[in-house]
Amino acid sequence: MCGIVGTIGNPDTTNILLSGLQKLSYRGYDSAGIYVNDQKGHDYLVKKSGKLANLEKYITPEMQGMVGLGHTRWATHGEPSDANAHPFKSYDGRYYMIHNGVIDNYQQLRDKYLQGIPLTSQTDSEIIVQMIAKFAHDDHLTTKDALVKTLKLLDGSYSIIMVDSKDPEKLYVAKNQTPLLIGIANGFTLVSSDVLAMIHYTNKFIEMRDKEIGILTADTQTIEDYDGNVINVKPKTIKLDANAADKGAYPYYMLKEIDEEPVVIRRLLTNYLNQNGEPQFDATLIQRFAQIDHLYIVAAGTSYHAGLVGKAFFEQWANIPTSVLLASEAGYHMPLLSAKPGFLFLSQSGETADSRLVLSEINQQNMLSLTMTNVANSTLAREATFSLDLLAGPEIAVASTKAYTAQIALEAIFAKALGIANNITTAKEFPLKQQLSEVANGMQTLVDQKDKIKQLAHDYFADHQNAFYIGRGQDYYVSLEAALKLKEISYIHAEGFAAGELKHGTIALIEKGTPVVGFVTDPETALPMRSNVEEVIARGAHTLTIAAKSLADDTDAVIIPDVATLLTPLLSVVPAQLLAYYASLERGLNVDQPRNLAKSVTVQ
Ligand code: AGP
Repeated sequence: MCGIVGTIGNPDTTNILLSGLQKLSYRGYDSAGIYVNDQKGHDYLVKKSGKLANLEKYITPEMQGMVGLGHTRWATHGEPSDANAHPFKSYDGRYYMIHNGVIDNYQQLRDKYLQGIPLTSQTDSEIIVQMIAKFAHDDHLTTKDALVKTLKLLDGSYSIIMVDSKDPEKLYVAKNQTPLLIGIANGFTLVSSDVLAMIHYTNKFIEMRDKEIGILTADTQTIEDYDGNVINVKPKTIKLDANAADKGAYPYYMLKEIDEEPVVIRRLLTNYLNQNGEPQFDATLIQRFAQIDHLYIVAAGTSYHAGLVGKAFFEQWANIPTSVLLASEAGYHMPLLSAKPGFLFLSQSGETADSRLVLSEINQQNMLSLTMTNVANSTLAREATFSLDLLAGPEIAVASTKAYTAQIALEAIFAKALGIANNITTAKEFPLKQQLSEVANGMQTLVDQKDKIKQLAHDYFADHQNAFYIGRGQDYYVSLEAALKLKEISYIHAEGFAAGELKHGTIALIEKGTPVVGFVTDPETALPMRSNVEEVIARGAHTLTIAAKSLADDTDAVIIPDVATLLTPLLSVVPAQLLAYYASLERGLNVDQPRNLAKSVTVQ
C-alpha cells in the first residue's frame, strides 16, 4: 500500500523523488522519507512521520544527489513514526532500502539470521536490508548475491529499491506481488510503483514481473531472474496524459473526479459501442462468457458495491445467474461453484490483494476470468484471462467516485453484449446507448447543483455523528456506497440499509435529528419506500430524500432525471458523493487523504 520511487543519473534527484512522492501519496501518507547520494561520497537520509509536506520542511539545499530513493508509507507493522518510516539503513551503514509489501515470515527470519543485529524499527521491512548487509559481510557476497539470497528467503509481497553506498553507480530493485515499473528517460532511469510518479519524464516503461531483480544505471536496465538468467524485456510505451493526474484549479481531487463522471460515461460509450450503438468487444471474450452458467463478481469496497448494482444487468439482460462476492471472504471461503463458472473482477487499482488471492486460486483451476480495471497494466489485468479498461483516467482521491460509475456503466455494456450473444430479447431491445447518454446528461445536471448540496451537507451532517442511508433494490446498493463515502471521508458513522430491514432492529437507533437519506427511484418499491421514510420521521429522524423525477414530491431534496430503473444508481450516487465531499470539507478534513486509509490496498 506504500508508494516507492527511485532514480539514477539525474542531478535533480531530490526534486524527482519529492514530486514522485507527491504523485504516490494516494498509496499511503502516514510518513515519508528519501535517501540521496551524490556518487562523490556525500549522502543524505531524511524520514519523518506525517504527510509529505512535513518531510519537505527538513529538506535542505545541500541534499542533492545523482541516485536516490523515496517512500510514502501506509503502516502495516509498527505505528507511523520517524523510526518506522523508510528508507531503512543497514546496521553497517552501507545499504539504504525502501519496501512496499508485507513480509509474512519476518519474525522467523529476524530470529534466525539477525541475532545480535540492532534493529531500529518495529517494521517487517527493516529485516530485508539488515539481512542483505549481514550476508554481504559474513558470507563475503556481492551486493547482488546478498540481495538474491535474501529474496529467496522472503515469504510475502515486496517491491524493493536499494542503494549500496559503496557502489552508488547502481540502483537495485526487486519485485514480488506488488507493482514495480522501470522508466527509461533521456539519460537517466526511474523506478516506481506507479507510472504517475514518472510520466513527466518518460512514457517508456519496463514492467517487472514477480521474482525478478533489476540492476539499473543511468542508461542501462538489466533484468534477471533469481538464478541470474538475464531476461530480455522490450520496453512498452504507455500513453497517459501527464496532466490527467493534476488537480488543476480544484481544491481536491475528489471534486474534480466527481465532475469528470459524465465525460467518463461518454468515453465508455465511444470506446465500447460501435457505430450502430451496439456493444463491441473481443469476439472470444463474448463467446466464452456467453457460455457460462453462473457469473461470480469478485471485488472489495466501492468496487463490490458496483458489483451489487451490476448483478441485475447480468441476470435480467443476459439471463446469467450472478453472485457478488467480497474478495476478502472469497479468498478463504469460496462458495460451491457452478459447473461452468465465469469470474468478473472489478477493481479500480487492479492491485487489491484480496482480489488477487481469489484470482490466483481460480487461475490454478484454469477457470475463466475477466478483470475490469482502471489501470490497464495492473496485476489483476495481466493475470486474468481477459481484461477491460474502465477508461476513467487516473483516480487519485482515496474515495472512489468516477471509477464506481465507470464500473457500473461497463458492466451494463458487457451484460448487454452477453445478452445479445445469447439471443435474449430484453438485452436486444434495451436502448442502452440512449439510456447511458441520458445518464451522462443527468450527471451533468447533478454535478452542477454543488451549492445546493453543500447547503444540504451543512444542514444534515454538521452536528451529527450517525447517519443512515436507506433504499430498496438498486437503491439499497446505492445506500451502501453512499454510507461508505460518508464514513471514509467525514468520519461520521453511517450505515446503508435495505429500507424494509430497518424496522427489524436498527430503527431503535433513530432518535431526534438522526439524519436518514432515502433513495426513491424504483416505481415498484416507491410506495413501501415512502412508508419507510414516514416510519423514521415518526421517530424524529431528519430525512433527506433523493427521488427520480417521475416519483418525486415536494418533500424531496434532490431530484434525479428519469432513466431506466436498473441504471438509476449512476445518477443517485452523484448527490451522495457530493454530500460526503461537503460533509468532509465542513469538518475541515483532508478530503483526498482520509485517516488510516490508502487508495491501493495491496495487503490482505
Ligand atoms: C472506496 O472509496 C475505497 N477506495 C475502497 O473501498 C476501494 O473501492 C477498495 O479498496 C477496492 O479497491 P479497488 O477497486 O482498487 O480494488
